[in-house]
Amino acid sequence: MGENTLYERLGGGAGIARIAEDIWANHTRNPLVKQRYVNSDPERLKRLVREMFGAGTGGPETYTGKGMLDAHRGMNISEQEFNAVVDDVLDALAKNGVGQREKDEVLAILWSMRKEIVHV
Ligand code: HEM
Repeated sequence: MGENTLYERLGGGAGIARIAEDIWANHTRNPLVKQRYVNSDPERLKRLVREMFGAGTGGPETYTGKGMLDAHRGMNISEQEFNAVVDDVLDALAKNGVGQREKDEVLAILWSMRKEIVHV
């Protein structure tokens, strides 16, 4: 019996594009993190989020951005900010009808990056 990839279960490229839009919208409204992104180019960040989700879940995308350590070095991001970003992602998944199992799988991937992002 074939098991669908996480990419397929997130709705493929189209589903991930909707999720990336909602992650960005959540970040810009979240008082715990929105200040971090005031100088960001939204289209560039959304593209990198689409690439990273695609590449990390079994899709054909190639991630062209920086590594997580380089991308966040010098920002001194707190645990609270990390959790807020994770919440923004999980809320975006919920809004797009993604199931609990898929949310858990994404959470595990995000959590695995924590040490490269918090207090570096
Ligand atoms: C697992 C959690 C996270 C992931 C997967 C992630 C992913 C990314 C990616 C893919 C980029 C683009 C890298 C590049 O420029 O090439 C980025 C940049 C950035 N991230 Fe994160 N990030 C996470 C957590 C956080 C947190 C907690 C904060 C702080 C609230 C944060 C703030 C930023 C900022 C300010 C940038 C630079 C944006 C820019 O260049 O305009 N990130 N992140």
